[in-house]
Amino acid sequence: MSPNDKANELLFGNGDELPSNHSTNPHITELSSAIGRRQVLAGGVALGALAFLGSAMPGITEAAEPAAHGLQKAPFKRRSKLPFSAVATTRADTITVPAGYRATAFIPWGTPLTGGYPAYLEDGSNSAQDQAEQLGMHHDGMHFFPIDAQQRGKNSQHGLLVLNHEYIDVPLLHPNGATLVAGKRSSAEEVRKEINAHGVSVVEVRRGLAGQWSVLPSARNRRITGATPMQIGGPARGHALLQTRHSPQGTASRGTLNNCSNGFTPWGTYLTCEENWAGYFASADADLPRELSRYGLRSNSRYGWDHLAGDEFERFNATRKAATAQDDYRNEPNHFGWIVEIDPFAPESTPVKRTALGRFAHEGLVFAPVKAGRPIVCYSGDDSQNEYIYKYVSRDKYRPGRSDGRLLDEGTLYVARFDANGKGQWLALDIHDPQFQAACTAAGVSFADQGEVLINTRLAADIAGATKMDRPEWGAVNPDNGEVYFTLTNNSSRTTADAANPRSPNPYGHIIRWRELSKNYASRHFAWSLFMLAGTEADSIGPNGQPLTADNRLASPDGLWFDEEGRLWIQTDMSGSQLNSGPFGNNQMLVAEPRTGELKRFLVGPLGAEVTGIAATPDFRTLFVNIQHPGEGSTPNNLLSTWPDGPGKRPRSATVIITREDGRRLL
Ligand code: FEO
Ligand code: CA
Ligand code: CA
Repeated sequence: MSPNDKANELLFGNGDELPSNHSTNPHITELSSAIGRRQVLAGGVALGALAFLGSAMPGITEAAEPAAHGLQKAPFKRRSKLPFSAVATTRADTITVPAGYRATAFIPWGTPLTGGYPAYLEDGSNSAQDQAEQLGMHHDGMHFFPIDAQQRGKNSQHGLLVLNHEYIDVPLLHPNGATLVAGKRSSAEEVRKEINAHGVSVVEVRRGLAGQWSVLPSARNRRITGATPMQIGGPARGHALLQTRHSPQGTASRGTLNNCSNGFTPWGTYLTCEENWAGYFASADADLPRELSRYGLRSNSRYGWDHLAGDEFERFNATRKAATAQDDYRNEPNHFGWIVEIDPFAPESTPVKRTALGRFAHEGLVFAPVKAGRPIVCYSGDDSQNEYIYKYVSRDKYRPGRSDGRLLDEGTLYVARFDANGKGQWLALDIHDPQFQAACTAAGVSFADQGEVLINTRLAADIAGATKMDRPEWGAVNPDNGEVYFTLTNNSSRTTADAANPRSPNPYGHIIRWRELSKNYASRHFAWSLFMLAGTEADSIGPNGQPLTADNRLASPDGLWFDEEGRLWIQTDMSGSQLNSGPFGNNQMLVAEPRTGELKRFLVGPLGAEVTGIAATPDFRTLFVNIQHPGEGSTPNNLLSTWPDGPGKRPRSATVIITREDGRRLL
């Protein structure tokens, strides 16, 4: 290990944030009988007795929703809808898929994309400008837009693949890691390269006659980075807490960071979600304001970008230095934690941060099915320990062909309270809502306006009485019955189990689901149940009510996606000892059939990688899946994976194209 390797290891963690919810709003402590029942069951003592799987959820019969009957009629129907053989767990440094399928690496980090189309240099010596014209690092959420999507077409041969680049492995991005002088970053060129390796890529792709996909040289190809100019939209636009030296009006921003999962709108735009952004900033102030402290801002930043002089780097230092907020960057962190809308078909368009969707560690955004004349409804999880699940309902109605991103600027943000009786409530975080006003008064907290509520979304949710969850990750909506599924990846800091989070602590994670009541996604009431508890054979409950088996044991569920036929695809993000010495092998992707309770492992990723991000062509003959941070923790002198380029080569995040060897639909 070189001195730089050592310094890099000390300076750069894996990107997950420490818990910062110190609110006193309880886990569901008053509901002890149900808690006790589920605690026992989740401990592996009486697996199968818990009637939450394959049975109707509370509220389904009274809601009398026709879609509910699919679940009630056929919970134990055993017709296999998963016609492939489960892949075994493995620690092979490759992609493993079932017999009859093919997996091909595509668009790895460094693929030339725009401008001068600079070739990827294996030794990390591409410049910062090269990186701005190449695919970024650490692929995550992704969507395929058919090239004729704006005309409501379903072209499956040609489209725009849009994907996030969540974070970076500094040791691999440069020839020999970061250059440090007295423990501080000293190279502007290196830091610019790091900023440019973040963000989003828009990639025009086409399938050739022989079936292979390729990147087209195209004016639509685009890199959005941690420095791309952005606008701020919604209620917080122009807020005093968004004023900075760069934007004294609080309306403009620079870049998007730590883009984890994603969403896509009914009007054909892409949404990228800012997750663990707090670690990019540092503040030397002892008395952090609530809009920073509640998000875990610290005195040291993850990558040390704030060490450098010059406006482009000083913005990462949120210390109060000047007389007013318009003369320093105390408010720069308030420009992050949002969902950003990007029009992939308009390469000159300015991305917009949609503040009505709230400010937290946004994992992703999933839309309920839209209906003309109804508001749009979407869901987003705050992926940090003991944080919450949110829902947004637009003020205005959806009008096909006429609606656009303004629907994301005016609406109500709610946070979920999961009650132990299987019901739940959406609590409005709205300064005009009487219940929220009363909660604020009771808590002795005040907000000047709705913009301030949204900038302090976590605090607002604490006050409203939301249920602390086990790290909400992706959501997905079942096309068969409208149920919303969410992964809760794990929670090592849970000290009190509750009905919705029944393990304390929760090392393996689980999947929860709910149905909105009153046949209305905008409803304030829902009925929920647990879909599965992940874990070992000795400590798990599968979707069929039985312990998991060698064919489907998993931990730390994260990515989640329903295909059009109602099969649920689950991706895992295990790390540390769970990944390296547990019984689960490398991270994986499984497919569940909620109608039968069947669950099978479909894919195993390479060493040290997370499997995350999933998108399909409309004909379902191509599935795109992202492999993030293979060989996590590698240095140039110690490669822990060499996927996808092979022996001696630095590992690279990449998309994997999955097809059937006979060219037919995937399932
Ligand atoms: Fe970036 Fe919560 O995963
Ligand atoms: Ca994730
Ligand atoms: Ca994760």
